Amino acid sequence: MTDDSLIPHLEQVGDQPTTIASETSSAIQLSLVIPTYDEAPNIERLIRRLHEVLTAKGVSFELIVVDDDSPDRTWEVVAGLANELNGLRVIRRVGTSGLATAVICGWSLSRGEILGVIDGDGQHPPEAITSLLEAMDEQTEVAVASRHLDGGGTSDWSPVRRLLSRGAQALGLLLLPGTIGRVTDPMSGYFLVRRRIVAGTGLDPVGYKVLLEVLARGEVQQVAERPYVFLERTKGESKVSAAHYVGYLRHLMRLRLYPLRSRALVRYLLVIAVALVADAVTFLWVFDRQGWNLTRSATIAGEVGILLTVALHDLWTFAGRAARNTVDRIRRLVGAQIALGVLLGGRLAVLNILVNWFDLDPLAAFLIALVAITPAGHLLGSRLTWRGVLS
Ligand code: GDD
Ligand code: MN
Repeated sequence: MTDDSLIPHLEQVGDQPTTIASETSSAIQLSLVIPTYDEAPNIERLIRRLHEVLTAKGVSFELIVVDDDSPDRTWEVVAGLANELNGLRVIRRVGTSGLATAVICGWSLSRGEILGVIDGDGQHPPEAITSLLEAMDEQTEVAVASRHLDGGGTSDWSPVRRLLSRGAQALGLLLLPGTIGRVTDPMSGYFLVRRRIVAGTGLDPVGYKVLLEVLARGEVQQVAERPYVFLERTKGESKVSAAHYVGYLRHLMRLRLYPLRSRALVRYLLVIAVALVADAVTFLWVFDRQGWNLTRSATIAGEVGILLTVALHDLWTFAGRAARNTVDRIRRLVGAQIALGVLLGGRLAVLNILVNWFDLDPLAAFLIALVAITPAGHLLGSRLTWRGVLS
């Protein structure tokens, strides 16, 4: 290692395996990791503000900056501060890089009971850490700062960046409904998690999305969210590039293959299949046997499918998610009714066009409309119904 290793408070690591210990003998409550790359102009202000807020809160904490050997020597700026501010550590990673792995590296060297991450560029308001800490009551294992709750927002993102972020979220919902659907801001890079959730779970993230990894691989029962406004970056620029979006896709696919998650997806798809069969059987019975008209029969059949979907997701697919109370269940039912109800309307239009304009046999038309529209609706419908399963 170069002579920099003689700088006090500077811990240097290479690209080594990182495991998070299930417990530490330390009395530290919070270990907050700050991943940095070329943040020399921003990092001091953030650290001083965090230090002030957490000291005022009376929390025993450590701030762990994990810097990937920044050309602007961010690690040196922090090492200088560590002389003055207690509870500040700086880790200089040499020979490897990546936001998510930097966070895991910091957590693997941490000592607190609650682990956290916050960006080092000042875009995540340090003050929000207090509301995240307050959200971490005994039952809550993850507390996420969300831009998409009332009171939250994104100050300076371009429409393109907003669209990309929302698109990434919608794609994640299709592939990992049981994970992405749990929070309003799965892309958040600002959150807290209890040590026992991530200890020994072999977190292996790609790119930027640590929260995705925690929610997908950790056995998380209770998640809380608190709103925050993502601030303007005042100095330097975002390191997010097209490669990060490719990394995100790879990350989604990898988690899709993860045994636990595919179990959730298998259940999810089985419920859709069962709902489709129940829908078709109901249609056959009322249209063919009872002789009711086409639209009424298809509406009743569609409604049976919707209610069955919500009931089975509630009781089976997402059974592990504590549906806190009846209001949650009703809210989910209304969400599913809206999402799938709109699709049912589309399906009825397609059905009537096929029968009345193209003279198709009603049963054949029903099956075409059912298979063409309903499955996609179920997958997207989860966006409205399951993101609300929060403490
Ligand atoms: N150690 C390390 N290594 N840190 C990194 C790396 C890296 O390869 N890349 C970025 N960082 C640090 C930056 O220095 C900054 O402190 C933080 O990670 C976020 O990086 P940005 O490049 O500023 O990301 P962003 O502002 O576009 O997006 C952030 O906010 C989004 C919304 O919360 C990120 O946190 C995203 O993950 C998040 O979705
Ligand atoms: Mn940023």
